[in-house]
Amino acid sequence: MSGGLGHCRSDLAFSGSGRRARHDCTITPALAAGDPAARTERAGITGDMIRATMGCFVTGVVVVTATGPDGPVGMAVNSFVSVSLDPPLVLFCASRTSTTWPHIRRTGHFCANVLTARQEHLARRFAGHGDRYSGVTYAQGTTGAPILDGVHAYADCKIVDEHEAGDHTVVIGRVVELHSDLAAAPLLFYRSGYRPLAGP
Ligand SMILES: Cc1cc2nc3c(=O)[nH]c(=O)nc-3n(C[C@H](O)[C@H](O)[C@H](O)COP(=O)(O)O)c2cc1C
Repeated sequence: MSGGLGHCRSDLAFSGSGRRARHDCTITPALAAGDPAARTERAGITGDMIRATMGCFVTGVVVVTATGPDGPVGMAVNSFVSVSLDPPLVLFCASRTSTTWPHIRRTGHFCANVLTARQEHLARRFAGHGDRYSGVTYAQGTTGAPILDGVHAYADCKIVDEHEAGDHTVVIGRVVELHSDLAAAPLLFYRSGYRPLAGP
């Protein structure tokens, strides 16, 4: 990209239909300047396009947990990222449609549990509709949030900030306790599927 302008192109595989489509998006001066016609061009970018493109970015999978008055809650996310070393800050993004996030929010804390390659079942469990904690063993972190047994790493956090961003809320946490098990292997999420880390 030069002078703030550029061009991007991606082949998109739309899940379900099996169709492939190519999306071209030219970043024109009008688009850069925020002109109304350019906004229409931007509005043509659909959720499927975003999912297909951002799905090329490999992430780990985290179960965000908290303990409220009615017991433990949790949800699987892949929007977890480190933000700052000093002070130690991390973030995840909670969908506005999430029914779990309001419970986590009320506690004022969360623990980010980084799953191992052997814990795909926990990713599915904490994104599903059943009893998420049935048979799941855990300890309690400094904040009181569940630290799931056998995770690759965890960061126990106090919620210090929130930002509304489109259809998600960016949740910033200050880490108060953390640990990693370097002998474990991570669970990866890539193009809508769970993957192990390939060897060299
Ligand atoms: C791999 C994976 C990553 C996910 N990442 C997020 C995320 O970053 N933010 C989010 O709000 N939901 C994410 N979800 C969806 C939530 O896990 C799920 O929709 C949510 O927990 C639904 O239940 P709830 O209504 O109890 O929140 C993800 C699901 C999976 C399987």
